[in-house]
Amino acid sequence: MTAKYPQPGELDAIESASRDEISALQLERLKWSLQHAYNNVPFHKKAFDDKGVHPSDLKTLADLAKFPFMTKAALRQQYPFGLFAVPMGKVARLHASSGTTGKSIVVGYTLKDIDNWANLMARSIRAAGGRAGDMVHNAYGYGMFTGGLGAHYGAERLGCTVVPMSGGQTERQVQLIMDFQSQIILVTPSYSLVIAEEFERLGVTPDQIPLKVGIFGAEPWGEGMRGEIERKLGIDAVDIYGLTEVIGPGVACECIESKDGPVIWEDHFYPEIIDPETGEVLPDGSDGELVFTSLTKEAFPVIRYRTRDLTRLLPPTARSFRRMSKITGRSDDMLIVRGVNVFPSQIEEQILRDKRLSGNYQILLNREGHLDNVEVRCELQREFADKLSPAEVASVSEALQQHIKTIVGITTKVSVLAPEAIPRTLVGKARRVIDERPKQL
Ligand code: DLL
Repeated sequence: MTAKYPQPGELDAIESASRDEISALQLERLKWSLQHAYNNVPFHKKAFDDKGVHPSDLKTLADLAKFPFMTKAALRQQYPFGLFAVPMGKVARLHASSGTTGKSIVVGYTLKDIDNWANLMARSIRAAGGRAGDMVHNAYGYGMFTGGLGAHYGAERLGCTVVPMSGGQTERQVQLIMDFQSQIILVTPSYSLVIAEEFERLGVTPDQIPLKVGIFGAEPWGEGMRGEIERKLGIDAVDIYGLTEVIGPGVACECIESKDGPVIWEDHFYPEIIDPETGEVLPDGSDGELVFTSLTKEAFPVIRYRTRDLTRLLPPTARSFRRMSKITGRSDDMLIVRGVNVFPSQIEEQILRDKRLSGNYQILLNREGHLDNVEVRCELQREFADKLSPAEVASVSEALQQHIKTIVGITTKVSVLAPEAIPRTLVGKARRVIDERPKQL
């Protein structure tokens, strides 16, 4: 297993093609994708028409800048299937991710889309050093989240044996890794350190752990964390990037031989970096917001989708495609808590369901060990403060915790405080989120 350098003939031809060949393929596919979206999705047709552009206006790749952006808010308004470009009979699978409030963003895949996705995930695992015959432990969550099934199909496509473990049950994770002698793990970086601690607790040293490579993503992590994971698990730690709206994991993945930022699979996703304030396209190397246009997707084409992820485009190294540097932050207020995307507005929505609570709240984040902890502090409305017994206040807190768990998907500690216990912001915006988690370096 784990070839550090790809052997001749192992890569897809396009991975080592010339820039001219890549651009020609991108242009041809981009024309198809714009036309496909325009013809089949009223939302896209209206957005193009409103901006006075037509798919036939795209003569060069740079012409893409004339086309309108898609935002998460627009996606949410089209809930659930408004952006699908094929009849439901052709949609083989759905996935979903958090929207800014209650409704999630639903995406669909045709069988062809799933096939492309599996190929790209297989390419990603191969870039990370995996090969046919490897035992792959998949600890990304299965379900509506794209991580589990996305990684699963890719590992199978590469010819690996997949252990579909999903998240949680740390003791069992460790036992199966040892018993099956897994060589590759796919997991969020934060949870990998919890697994590492379990190995440590059992007295299993890094050289006794069979894993050779870990493929980590779904949340930000820095070089400091890479070093820690590599040391504790005795592996190479490789970064994989993706997002539900674009396809899921496998939009970009690092190569084990260079570990210098995820390589964007540019034959399927066309990247741009824009100024998040003005929307202007910036030259490669500039810091800004990452925008993607899908080149081959049938069921859910995205045209200039604003990811809100802040990064920059880097020149090719191990492959012919451009790379992205590590995500440095987001241009919206989305938080990623143990790999789950959370908008403060989703939590606010749950607080406001209970008439006994005021709309003044704070979300506190910190890290205990390797995992994120979230405390939601809210206040009783003055009119209820004297009327509720301590047991009733406790039940307010329990109910809110339960709603946040089932609807937003994260476990929180809820503190229900007396009226006006939360400091008011007298000037400017209320400080709703206090994020004390250490910065990823
Ligand atoms: O997190 C897909 C995924 C699954 C990627 C497994 C990698 C591995 P979403 O839940 O839609 O999809 O979240 C997408 O997560 O816009 C980034 O803000 C963040 N993100 C994903 N990968 C990385 C990464 C999946 N490698 C959002 N580094 C994205 C930093 C990441 N942030």
